[in-house]
Amino acid sequence: MRVVVTGARGKVGRATVGALQRSGHDVVATDVLRPVFERREPGAAAYVQADLTDAGDAFSVVRGADAVVHCAAIPEPTANPAHVVFRTNLEMTFNCVEAAVRSGVRRFVNLSSETAPGFFFAERPFVPDYLPVDEEHPLRPQDPYALSKVFGEQLMDAAVRRSDMTAMSVRPSWVQWEGSIEWNLGPQVRDPTVTTSNIHSYVDVYDLADAIVACAESELPGHEVLYVASPDNVGNNDFVSLVREVYGLDVPIRPLSRPDASGISCAKAERLVGYAPRRSWRDYLDANGELLPEVRDRLARAGGDGPRYVP
Ligand SMILES: NC(=O)c1ccc[n+]([C@@H]2O[C@H](COP(=O)([O-])OP(=O)(O)OC[C@H]3O[C@@H](n4cnc5c(N)ncnc54)[C@H](O)[C@@H]3O)[C@@H](O)[C@H]2O)c1
Repeated sequence: MRVVVTGARGKVGRATVGALQRSGHDVVATDVLRPVFERREPGAAAYVQADLTDAGDAFSVVRGADAVVHCAAIPEPTANPAHVVFRTNLEMTFNCVEAAVRSGVRRFVNLSSETAPGFFFAERPFVPDYLPVDEEHPLRPQDPYALSKVFGEQLMDAAVRRSDMTAMSVRPSWVQWEGSIEWNLGPQVRDPTVTTSNIHSYVDVYDLADAIVACAESELPGHEVLYVASPDNVGNNDFVSLVREVYGLDVPIRPLSRPDASGISCAKAERLVGYAPRRSWRDYLDANGELLPEVRDRLARAGGDGPRYVP
């Protein structure tokens, strides 16, 4: 397929471009960041600069694609004014979806977020109804980022209602790669009492990229929403003790896939697109939460500017 990947210079977009290319797809990468006028690296995807808050830019880059993987976003609400986060994310998703529908794109993969139910950036305490959370959990977003993601999912519902395009919204957990995992997860590996608003959940960026490829290749009808998280929790703690003792939550705990399960269930992704994560934080960090020497070497060789797809 000819696949347009938005947000291609970002964490998820970079890994996704590589994963799609390895699966034999013809990828056009796009981002708001400026292109480099140099000879293209052998095998590098074509790159087009586009500001997707502009409908004309969106129509221009999406035209001719079989599938669109939409990773472009402001990925959290704390570093920009609230209205900018909300407007940018929603406007980009609207423009890309509208361009895809009008251009006859067959498949749209929309990057949503684990924050949709209300996790992570809630201003007032958010207590889940049950754990691990799954796609049936009610949505109670508070912040502009989570709201933009919930409305983005509604845009996908509307798109498949009014066209033959099919869609999937992927809700990743907190995305980790070799360049950020020590900083992000190291403290929690060292000390399990360090809490995160997603109950010690995370996802490996390369497992996520593989899942996104499976979503792009899937021929399932309509619009499906899928969580994608690593199956274990950070530090491989006993999940029930973690919830009760570290987080002090008295919520129902549903059957777990493993004792050290994530706070997010990926049973639906496993069932619908064969999600089969192959990586864990343990592939990057030692028991002290420090980067393994071979990972440090790999990172130094790769240049450290963002995820490079590893098999
Ligand atoms: N990083 C996470 O932990 C996480 C978790 C859940 C969901 N997500 C979602 O996954 C997707 C990718 O996130 P990421 O971590 O790769 O973020 P990122 O910030 O690394 O990448 C996002 C990219 O979008 C581009 N972008 C921003 N504004 C744009 C515009 N106006 N026009 C075109 N491109 C623009 C940025 O330049 C950037 O390269 C986002 O939708 C994010 O909300 C991320």
